[in-house]
Amino acid sequence: MTTVRRANRDDIFPLFEAMSLQFSFDLPEDEEKREDWKNRIIETGGIDRGMVAEDGDLIVGTLGSFDLDMTVPNGSIPCAGTTWVSVSPTHRRRGVLRQLMSAHLAEAVEHGDVIAALWASDSAIYGRFGYGRAIDAVSIELDRRGARFRNSMPSPDRIEMITPEEAASALPPLYEHIRREVPGAFARTEPWWRHRRLRDTPDRRDGNSALRTAVSVADDGRATGYAQFRVESKFDGAHSADIVHVVELLGSSPASWSALWSIVLGLDLATKVKARFRPLDDPLFEYLTGIRRVDRTLTDTVWVRVLDVERALTSRAYSEPGALTLAIADDMGIANGTYRLGWDGHRIDCSGSSGPADLEIDVSDLGVALMGRPRFSASVLAGTIDGSMDAAALADRMFAHHRAPFCPEVF
Ligand SMILES: CC(C)(COP(=O)(O)OP(=O)(O)OC[C@H]1O[C@@H](n2cnc3c(N)ncnc32)[C@H](O)[C@@H]1OP(=O)(O)O)[C@@H](O)C(=O)NCCC(=O)NCCS
Repeated sequence: MTTVRRANRDDIFPLFEAMSLQFSFDLPEDEEKREDWKNRIIETGGIDRGMVAEDGDLIVGTLGSFDLDMTVPNGSIPCAGTTWVSVSPTHRRRGVLRQLMSAHLAEAVEHGDVIAALWASDSAIYGRFGYGRAIDAVSIELDRRGARFRNSMPSPDRIEMITPEEAASALPPLYEHIRREVPGAFARTEPWWRHRRLRDTPDRRDGNSALRTAVSVADDGRATGYAQFRVESKFDGAHSADIVHVVELLGSSPASWSALWSIVLGLDLATKVKARFRPLDDPLFEYLTGIRRVDRTLTDTVWVRVLDVERALTSRAYSEPGALTLAIADDMGIANGTYRLGWDGHRIDCSGSSGPADLEIDVSDLGVALMGRPRFSASVLAGTIDGSMDAAALADRMFAHHRAPFCPEVF
């Protein structure tokens, strides 16, 4: 029989060993490197609120949970960042994931998290646990030499290339300022920056250059955004054919976006620029004249699961005044109930209701709407939620947000 319990720090090696088969990585062998790696895991979090599934003494299922503070439209809420989900091939399809998920979500509720969120390895897995497809993103690959900017491109900020030491002090406050405007982005702790974002040892480079960092700077000397990228050195016959890999690129104003994309697309010896998981409203898509020349792959990225309906719905702003009664179904029994949501332009109210519902939705639909890209009308059209098209259209207008949700990094 398989049982689930809370993970602890002594589980770090066996837990990651159990995971390594599913996620195809190897743990460090050298004693010093193992210690260093273990400390990084402890400092960046995930283990203390994690779960392990055991068959006897053997770990056969794993799950980690990061303490995140995630942006929603005009707010920020505590979020359990679900991660490290794996079940050994020897124990698949016997309900081990369901056991892990039940324990994880119960722990997150007790901890006071308003939502849980994750990057799914496969989009078919998490809907059944109440997670909704909240954030889509576009991975791009473009031929730099064919790329033309529109004449209306805003005049760019100045660009400064900075050292890794300068990046370590400049990027965290800049990121924190920017992420508060972007639903789906989350706060980064100092160890998170050090270990996950700025650490640039050769094993992190995949054979490419060290991390380059460009900062955009406004006329008054303020840093306005940054781009981190690596260059893959390549040749096509006698010609350089480098590939620029964008690691992170975040602007805060038209002038910063235009400066950052200009520098990334302006490296003469490169033929290609690749960037994974860009936001749907990335200004790059507005700047280019020949958008069809960009290979774009649309994919789901972060899935969001509401745990506390009242706190979730009162933590964000709405785009239009209105009142809605939502009947929420939740197979896991965490967020089900009927709620009346009202926004009169000044005050948000959300409380349990016994009235008839305008829309009957699944908790996963609420996770989607919460982050600002609701699909109520599309779902009524498809018949996957019940209610009138008028109510769905009102809900879409209320929940819509002017910024596309975007999570800049895989966790
Ligand atoms: C995905 C994974 C964790 C599932 O574990 P599992 O213990 O076999 O899952 P369970 O038996 O608890 O299944 C729970 C439900 O999910 C479904 N399910 C599980 N894996 C699925 C998959 N890959 N695709 C579609 N459905 C899946 C099951 O059919 C079951 O549905 P039901 O409750 O409606 O009957 C496991 O296959 C795995 O480790 N895969 C490789 C690593 C991975 O992809 N991890 C996810 C990272 S985000």
